[in-house]
Amino acid sequence: MKDACIHVDYRICSFDELSADDLALVEQAKAATHNSFSPYSHFSVGAALLLDNGVVVQGANQENASFTTGLCAERTAAFYANAHYPDAAPTTLAIAARGTDGEFTVEPVSPCGACRQVLVEIEHRYGRPMRLLLVGRDCVYELKSIKDIVPFSFTDDAL
Ligand code: THU
Repeated sequence: MKDACIHVDYRICSFDELSADDLALVEQAKAATHNSFSPYSHFSVGAALLLDNGVVVQGANQENASFTTGLCAERTAAFYANAHYPDAAPTTLAIAARGTDGEFTVEPVSPCGACRQVLVEIEHRYGRPMRLLLVGRDCVYELKSIKDIVPFSFTDDAL
């Protein structure tokens, strides 16, 4: 028997510690929260996905009266990017959210399990890490790869 451990490095940055490019992406994720259609949860999530061709794709959660058919901000951005720019690898994904009070969440929001699964496969498909910028009210968590938040991930390698 052997104990093992998975270690995740991440960086907690203030906004003024971000590069100009990262700050711009964070601002786009925050702006995208205003395109959320969330009359049921009143939780507005925005995503901004930078591709290696320089394009930024924004996404926002889209809800539906048939609750389970809605989609998270991260997947609206990722699927749009794949549908429009299939040859461009996603490089950085910024995510921000506003709560029921309309204010940005104090704590950074991180992708739900279903989005993690989709994003980890996309990262695997393009063969390069997708950085994450998880946006809180006063700080941003920076992670180097989606894999960091999907230990023991399932990909097509297993099929
Ligand atoms: N949501 C996202 O868009 N992304 C996340 O990372 C977490 C949750 C959405 C789904 C739903 O529309 C609302 O937030 C409340 O769960």
